[in-house]
Amino acid sequence: MKTLVIVAHPNLEQSKVNRSWMNRLQQEENVTVHNLYAHYPTFEINVEKEQQLLLEHDRIVLQFPFYWYSSPALLKQWQDLVLTYGWAYGSKGTKLRGKEFVLAISTGGPEAAYQAGGYNHFSMSELTKPFQATANLTGMRFLPTFTKQGVRLLTNEQVHESAEELVHHLKNNY
Ligand SMILES: Cc1cc2nc3c(=O)[nH]c(=O)nc-3n(C[C@H](O)[C@H](O)[C@H](O)COP(=O)(O)O)c2cc1C
Repeated sequence: MKTLVIVAHPNLEQSKVNRSWMNRLQQEENVTVHNLYAHYPTFEINVEKEQQLLLEHDRIVLQFPFYWYSSPALLKQWQDLVLTYGWAYGSKGTKLRGKEFVLAISTGGPEAAYQAGGYNHFSMSELTKPFQATANLTGMRFLPTFTKQGVRLLTNEQVHESAEELVHHLKNNY
């Protein structure tokens, strides 16, 4: 099982959580960590290279901080350009079929805010529906999402723990 972790954070120098997750995942065998903003600071994505990376892995992880109830912009650009018709979807677009798909998301808002009646009204499962639909369309199996919420209040120790939890989550057989 080879895992590809695509990290999309526009400002990793100032990141607490995603940087810690990325550094920890880099120590794992059979895990490729791909820092999207480092490769494409001008948003000019090498589509062939990205598709090749996807082909070489079985479990695809998108790791990002929640921005406006979704992903940072470069990850959307990546989806728009890389998941092409005839490659990722359409009758001949079968390249991602059978792969596994996981989201790893940090949010500023606490868990309690993400529910009906809460500050943000909707659950993470509801807000990540476009990713679930993408997995469905491309024939990937959507696995449970890893979320760490209320991250502004986390101590360094808790951030470190969350990195271990993420490693554990990504090693699970679902
Ligand atoms: C442009 C922007 C949009 C954000 N939108 C949300 C949001 O919709 N919901 C939320 O809970 N937090 C939101 N946040 C907070 C980030 O999710 C939070 O700062 C991030 O997960 C922290 O991770 P890091 O330590 O890796 O930077 C936003 C932050 C920024 C800068």
